[in-house]
Amino acid sequence: MNKVLAQDPNDDVSAAPAQKTRGGALKPIPDDALILIPMRNNVLFPGVLSPITVGRPGSVAAAQEAVRAEKKVGFVLQRDPQKSAVGPNDLYWVGTAAQIVRYITGGEGAHHMVVQGNARFRALEFLEGWPFLVARVQMIDTPDAMTPELEARFLQLKQQAAEAIQLLPNAPDELAAVVQGVSSPGLLADMVANLLDVKSEDKQGLLETFDLKSRLDRVLELLSERVGVLRISKEIGDRTKKEFDERQREHVLREQMRQIQKELGEDEDTSAELDELKKQIEAAGMPQDVHKHATKELKRLQRMGEGSAEGSMLRTYLEWLAELPWKDEASRAIDIAEARKVLDEDHFGLDKIKKRILEHLAVRKLNPAGKSPILCFVGPPGVGKTSLGQSIARATGRRFQRIALGGVHDEAEIRGHRRTYIGALPGNVIQALRRAESKNAVLMFDEIDKLGMGGFHGDPSSALLEVLDPEQNSKFRDNYLGVDFDLSKVMFITTANVLDSIPGPLRDRMEIIQLPGYTEEEKLQIAGRYLVKRQLEANGLSDAQAELREEAVRSIIADYTREAGVRNLERLIGAALRRAAMQIAEGAEGKVTIDASDLHGILGAKRFENEVAERTSVPGVATGLAWTPVGGDILFIEASKVPGSGKLIITGQLGDVMKESAQAALTLARTYLSDSYEKTDIHIHVPAGATPKDGPSAGVAMFLALVSLLTEKPIRPDVAMTGEISLRGLVLPIGGVKEKTLAALRAGIRTVMLPRRNEKDLEDVPAEARAKLEFVFLERVEDALRTAVGDLPKRERKAA
Ligand SMILES: Nc1ncnc2c1ncn2[C@@H]1O[C@H](COP(=O)(O)OP(=O)(O)O)[C@@H](O)[C@H]1O
Ligand SMILES: [Mg+2]
Repeated sequence: MNKVLAQDPNDDVSAAPAQKTRGGALKPIPDDALILIPMRNNVLFPGVLSPITVGRPGSVAAAQEAVRAEKKVGFVLQRDPQKSAVGPNDLYWVGTAAQIVRYITGGEGAHHMVVQGNARFRALEFLEGWPFLVARVQMIDTPDAMTPELEARFLQLKQQAAEAIQLLPNAPDELAAVVQGVSSPGLLADMVANLLDVKSEDKQGLLETFDLKSRLDRVLELLSERVGVLRISKEIGDRTKKEFDERQREHVLREQMRQIQKELGEDEDTSAELDELKKQIEAAGMPQDVHKHATKELKRLQRMGEGSAEGSMLRTYLEWLAELPWKDEASRAIDIAEARKVLDEDHFGLDKIKKRILEHLAVRKLNPAGKSPILCFVGPPGVGKTSLGQSIARATGRRFQRIALGGVHDEAEIRGHRRTYIGALPGNVIQALRRAESKNAVLMFDEIDKLGMGGFHGDPSSALLEVLDPEQNSKFRDNYLGVDFDLSKVMFITTANVLDSIPGPLRDRMEIIQLPGYTEEEKLQIAGRYLVKRQLEANGLSDAQAELREEAVRSIIADYTREAGVRNLERLIGAALRRAAMQIAEGAEGKVTIDASDLHGILGAKRFENEVAERTSVPGVATGLAWTPVGGDILFIEASKVPGSGKLIITGQLGDVMKESAQAALTLARTYLSDSYEKTDIHIHVPAGATPKDGPSAGVAMFLALVSLLTEKPIRPDVAMTGEISLRGLVLPIGGVKEKTLAALRAGIRTVMLPRRNEKDLEDVPAEARAKLEFVFLERVEDALRTAVGDLPKRERKAA
């Protein structure tokens, strides 16, 4: 925003000396005309006092004549600020008439004045015969009577203006008081318009908005935009100021330390540190141009001394440059056999995934300079995505660094802030590389699907795209560094919970590897081989001191967790072992063993035991299977009857597609049964889960719930189902078979009903899970009925 007294900075003060206008030499200006002065970049508003500098001969002559004849001047904006000689067509025809209250002739042809804006006018006709612009004008008067409509806007504007002034870094204190003191809405609108830091055209627009209500609205709109911006920049400012203060403090302390060392005779010559920095720069292995740049900056630092704030910033910058891993180390050749061994050591199972990782590594080994796609692990939490990345780093003898992308909204977080920005730092890619101390590192972009959308400060995903693009990343330029850094040796890996929310162009660059989740048996193995050991260690226990029995682990898996990964499992194993650690600390003798029966006392009541059996013991409840972004889950579809008029009521957390399938299921259930239900409403409820569910795949479950309700026969408790239905009773295929099947198994289901056309997808389900389940493949809804409810009492099918 401009200060109240804003200058027109673009007026060319160096123009030729003004042509003198002597008293009486000019013919008088008619009463209904104004002398005009064009402004390149500034709009004067009525009620505003403003300094204005003029330099163009015409403008100087105009100002002098106005002072001499004690006339007002009309200030008008020119359309093209570059243009020096302007005529009527170069000007906006609406301007502000103003009194020149002071006039000072400065040196070098610049003339300064202070003007007081009075009123808007519209030029009607330009007149000839003066060495400056003169136009006949019509003054515009806006009535300023307060109406309720105006008052509301007036008060809102005052409040917004107060906030804006507070957010302004250098606003004079009086400004707030002045704004608060204004009692006319028109004046307030013009004052705020004057203060607004917007384009001249926008200001001109405000000047030309004669209707007071519209003008207040427009000013409010522009102001609230600015307030938004100011809020953000203040936030950034506060943050960086804090960093900056901390750095200042560090600098002062260092300086004091140096003084003390001097006093004690321990002074090593102040330039010793800079010599050290120089050595570091020499040893860093920078490319030639970077080295040249660093040396130049170092010289500048030596001249400047470190005493100043700028000096300490420059020093920090040079330290960043010196500490980055510029050197081209010969990367260790990838040993595939060794890599296989490491992957097997770190992770149980995941055979297919390990195989694909090894293939990927083999391709890299054969063609290190090749543009291999970037691995992307996709799957629910706790399935080992991040730890696989660490394992790959270990398997290939590289350093691992993780960059969390969750909530990254700002391009600068990836690419850094310019050095001119106080408290600037490199972006997280360069930061990670410094931590890695090697450019042959494995960098993991974790949770790439949580990357914020492009916002106020540029789109982070396009910056990421550049980082990941082998065509571009050998010359990656971080804003802070300001020199290119070669990322082509880095092995990038990404992870995501879901594929859908990864920006398309990023997805195209990646080789997607899905990790769907583990079966109970796999979890047991993972717990036995890794999790229990790790948690023993974390709690300072040896396996001679404490043991978690296999039955207890089984119970944690089946009764206390229902997850695709092993995150809660590990957490609860930790909780159980902490109890053991406590008992030992309290003096328990011998080895502490934790059994399944101890879990109740440690973890509380079982959470998932028998849930299915209980829920499905009444007619009208079917166990459906849902796909969610965090693996599969079971869901209960509950149907009930209430007296009414044959309506279908649907409640719960479900989307439109699901509502449609409920309608289809009811139609189907009705044609199937002879009874009429004109005096009952049917109520279908899908209990809220962690994630809202939608999609047509609950069709079969809804149909069964309805038939079960209408025939009053409960559905078998160990059956779960998924499938879309058509109005003619066909069962149509669905997605997510693997996740859904694993979820069924976790919930203790024995029989899973799937659409016939999904039979082929069973290939993806681990054999061990398949062996534990019975599958029924559905072509028509009748097939589902037979298994889930048994034969119906009466099967008189109404003609459809
Ligand atoms: N197959 C596995 N074998 C051994 N440990 C595993 C396996 N899968 C997951 N883990 C362990 O589970 C924990 C959670 O894994 P993590 O990599 O954080 O999951 P994600 O990144 O997928 O959310 C880690 O401690 C990891 O080592
Ligand atoms: Mg993770």
